[in-house]
Amino acid sequence: MTDFLELAKQRQSCRSYDAFRAVEKEKLDSILAAAQLSPSACNGQPYHITVCEGDAAAEVAKATMGMGMNRFAADAPLLLVLSEEPYVKSAAVGAKLKGNDYRSLDIGILSAYITAEAESQGLGSCILGWFDSDKICALCGLQGSVRLVITVGYAKEGDKQRPKKRKSMTELVTYIK
Ligand SMILES: Cc1cc2nc3c(=O)[nH]c(=O)nc-3n(C[C@H](O)[C@H](O)[C@H](O)COP(=O)(O)O)c2cc1C
Repeated sequence: MTDFLELAKQRQSCRSYDAFRAVEKEKLDSILAAAQLSPSACNGQPYHITVCEGDAAAEVAKATMGMGMNRFAADAPLLLVLSEEPYVKSAAVGAKLKGNDYRSLDIGILSAYITAEAESQGLGSCILGWFDSDKICALCGLQGSVRLVITVGYAKEGDKQRPKKRKSMTELVTYIK
C-alpha cells in the first residue's frame, strides 16, 4: 500500500494518454467508490458524476478544447464530468449565512479524491477547468452547470514524471501561537 504523501508526489496531471488501452471496469469502480466517500458540507454531495466513454468521451473531449487547450483529452478513454446539483437545505442555509461557496469546495475535494484514487490504480488523470459547459450539458443531458471535467486513462509509454513546482513552505504556511 502506497502512503498518501508518496501518492501525492507521484500524481501529476497526465497530458499524454494511450488511446488504445481501455480502463478496466474494476478500476473505474474504485475511482467512483472513492468519489462516493468524498466529504462535503453537511454531507450534501451537491454534485453529479457523468462517466463518458467511447463516442461520448470523444464528443466531451472536443468540448474541452479551443485556443490550443486540452488537445490531449482526445486520447483519454474516459472523461468524468462533474456537474452541480442543488444543496441540501442545511448547506444552502450555511452557504448563504456564511457567504461561503461550499459547492465549489465540495467539487474541488471530489476531484482530489478522484485523481488520488486514479493514481493509486496506476492511472493518469487531469482535472480540466477549461471547457464549454453548455455544450457538455447538452451532450450529457445535464441541468446543472458543469464545474470540472477529469480525463482518465493510462499514460502513454515514456510519459515522464515532471519535477513538482510548488510554493515554498514559507510562502505557503504560517505558524502562529
Ligand atoms: C481547477 C483546475 C483546473 C484545471 N484546468 C486544467 C485544464 O483545463 N487543462 C490542463 O491541462 N490542466 C488543468 N489543470 C491542471 C493544473 O494545471 C495542474 O494541476 C497544476 O499545474 C499542477 O500540476 P500537477 O497536477 O501536474 O501537479 C487544472 C487543475 C485544476 C485544479
